[in-house]
Amino acid sequence: MRSDLERIRQAALADLERCEEGAALEEIRVRYLGRKGELTAVLRGMREVPEAERPAIGELVNTIKAEVEERIDAIRRRLEDVRLAMSLAEERLDVTLPGIRVPHGHLHPLAQVLDEVVGIFVEMGFGVEEGPEIEDDYHNFEALNIPRDHPARDMHDTFFVTDDRVLRTHTSPVQIRVMETRQPPLRVIAPGAVFRQGDDDATHSPTFHQVEGFLVDRAITFGDLKGVLSEFLRRFFGPETRVRFRPSFFPFTEPSAEVDIGCVMCAASGKQADGAPCRVCKRSGWLEILGSGLIDPNVFHFVGYDPELFSGFAFGLGVERLAMLKHGIDDIRLFYENDLRFLRQF
Ligand code: DAH
Repeated sequence: MRSDLERIRQAALADLERCEEGAALEEIRVRYLGRKGELTAVLRGMREVPEAERPAIGELVNTIKAEVEERIDAIRRRLEDVRLAMSLAEERLDVTLPGIRVPHGHLHPLAQVLDEVVGIFVEMGFGVEEGPEIEDDYHNFEALNIPRDHPARDMHDTFFVTDDRVLRTHTSPVQIRVMETRQPPLRVIAPGAVFRQGDDDATHSPTFHQVEGFLVDRAITFGDLKGVLSEFLRRFFGPETRVRFRPSFFPFTEPSAEVDIGCVMCAASGKQADGAPCRVCKRSGWLEILGSGLIDPNVFHFVGYDPELFSGFAFGLGVERLAMLKHGIDDIRLFYENDLRFLRQF
């Protein structure tokens, strides 16, 4: 019996010596100490041991059991230490390291200015509408009181898609499209791209952007136009901005006015710091910033509004021009070249 036990002890320790991983360790434990394990079998056979020897054998079994259990525990702890060390090494995370900044982009300067313009008018109660970039002659010209052969068409340097379809030369046709489908009161702005053939220089581009705006209600006067546009310009360029309304002509407004602001480059002085004439306002101290007027009764006739009942004003502004003046940019082409050194400045 003693020699059996000694053999089991040796075998168990030898197995443990070779044991490398947690799963094998558990197998060994079951093989020797489990309910059907070898040491347990010996204990079951105690009946055959002469009574006198039983205490000594029992004690020996317990000693071996304790020894094997202790070895198993020691190995388990070692394996756990190894596993922990490995996972610490693998998943090392130093929370004190500085973060990695993910470079993120931003809106194009034109989109920023457009958003700002739209935001100001939305705060004043205007809603936003869009129209098609390929427009028909009727909406781009005819219904805006620009008949065929009208000299104003020359100013528009139109890109023709077909005889009757054009790339819209301005956003004013959105006025017509909205008024055709809705009744006053209306407060609408219509931002979007417009297209004109011809000049491609520091201040002209064949594609550019406008925001059209109009308001129609009962008893709207030129005073309303002045109030809304002055408020817009002061919010956009700053509360001290000087605003001037100058008589002008547009086929779709009567009377019409061009709106100027005090030059933002020379603080309306007309002179540069060195005394030379300001290059932006050409010494006048004023910058033309938008076209406007009271909507011509003829336009109301085209959309079926009664000009005796309703009146309104309209205006159109160029987004590139606003952006150039706001940021002191002197070449419109910079907006379209997408040179990151330029774009990153905004
Ligand atoms: N549509 C004109 C243009 O592109 C701008 C304009 C001027 C729009 C006067 C208006 C306005 O609504 O009243 O040059």
